[in-house]
Amino acid sequence: MTRLIRGGRVVTATDAFDADVLIDGETIVAVGTGLSGDEEIDASGCLVLPGLVDNHTHLSMPFGGTWSCDDYTTGTAAAAAGGTTSIVDFCIQYVGGSLKDALAEWHGRADGAAHIDYGFHCAITDARPEVVAEMEQCVADGVTSFKVFMAYKGALMVDDEQFIAVLEQTGKTGGLVMVHCENGDAVVRYQKEALEAGDTDPKFHASTRPPEVEGEATSRAIRLAEWTGRPLFVVHVTCEEAVKEIQAARDRGLPIFGETCIQYLYLTVDDLDRPGFEGAKYVCSPPLREAYNQHVLYQALRQGALQGISTDHCPFNFKEQKELGLGDFTKIPNGLPAIEHRLTLLYDRSVRGGHMDIVDVVRHGSWGPARIFGLDKKGAIAPGFDADIVVFDPEVKHTISAETHVMNVDYDPFEGWEVQGKPRFTLSRGETVYADGKIISEPGRGRFLKRSLFEPAMG
Ligand code: URP
Ligand code: ZN
Ligand code: ZN
Repeated sequence: MTRLIRGGRVVTATDAFDADVLIDGETIVAVGTGLSGDEEIDASGCLVLPGLVDNHTHLSMPFGGTWSCDDYTTGTAAAAAGGTTSIVDFCIQYVGGSLKDALAEWHGRADGAAHIDYGFHCAITDARPEVVAEMEQCVADGVTSFKVFMAYKGALMVDDEQFIAVLEQTGKTGGLVMVHCENGDAVVRYQKEALEAGDTDPKFHASTRPPEVEGEATSRAIRLAEWTGRPLFVVHVTCEEAVKEIQAARDRGLPIFGETCIQYLYLTVDDLDRPGFEGAKYVCSPPLREAYNQHVLYQALRQGALQGISTDHCPFNFKEQKELGLGDFTKIPNGLPAIEHRLTLLYDRSVRGGHMDIVDVVRHGSWGPARIFGLDKKGAIAPGFDADIVVFDPEVKHTISAETHVMNVDYDPFEGWEVQGKPRFTLSRGETVYADGKIISEPGRGRFLKRSLFEPAMG
């Protein structure tokens, strides 16, 4: 059966133009005028974008003695409601465990549960030689990127020796190394000093992880990638100190890539200082920064130092989860809910706010991540690509609230924000999964995405 999306303004990573989009089954077959299909979807007055790719999510992630509270069903429903049609989620190796077991566990969670397509990165937390050797099989199975954490000492953090081993292995097997850049030793020291001084409130999460801690780790990570001759992707970049390192590396010709996340574009360190324990709702790592960094991040996106805008969606309920850190900010589980709001906020705050064009939204939120993370059929509206499409109404006004959001979390960091623009329909491989405010697909239709290798030119 064919479906025609009629009358919208198609947006790609390079252009925006009036055209209809013809879908046959799961695939886009034509973009143009004078087309017809068995069924029509009215897109008049709407933008027609490739479904967003969120390459940074944590669904059902174990953290600090609890689990992020969106699973593969609720998290992917929220993604679809917000115009995201593919995610790449972090599968976390347990210390002492294998990558094979970790991947089996994550497949078990996602299989039969997801509304949209999903892939996995493998986060290596314990790079023993036999674990490093497993990376070859991961790549063969379509898990072509690996994350290491330079922070979360005693839990997820690897030391530089292990980091080097992971980088070197990708020189043999292929694969892109992603890195969380914060100096974990420095954070532990600053946290200890703060608690000894009686500084226990959420705001001390930020002062114990200052921008220098991120800048130093970013610089070190880039040097290690340079020495081992490998590309590197820096996740959740927040500040000038880190951007400068990435920009300098790229100026030296190195294949260093990076992303920021919506929370760093719209929220600030002041949110951590909200009255009472409210600041806990804004605890994520690296922390929210001083507002001037938002300008730096926009510049970095414009100049090409950063390529992606993801969400780092890692939700914890305020009640009983964030509250684990009452009286000790180091026990607040790290992460924010954001998977549902990326497209609306990018449109409302960044495009309407004059910081970027809608074409940039597609480039940073869909096309770019799809290319870097080997999603060959995603991120474009062109014949042969999967019919992952968002019909986005740029006029509709609404208010963000935990009362109405789809995410399975008891608060919303953007509560009360009045915004303009919302998906009207979201299609995943030709099937409408979200229409006019409701998820209409069944969990389990989403497929595992075997991803190809991204090997940027080095010479
Ligand atoms: O605070 C965050 N970002 N939580 C998720 C884990 C990570 O570091 O990405
Ligand atoms: Zn991280
Ligand atoms: Zn993350």
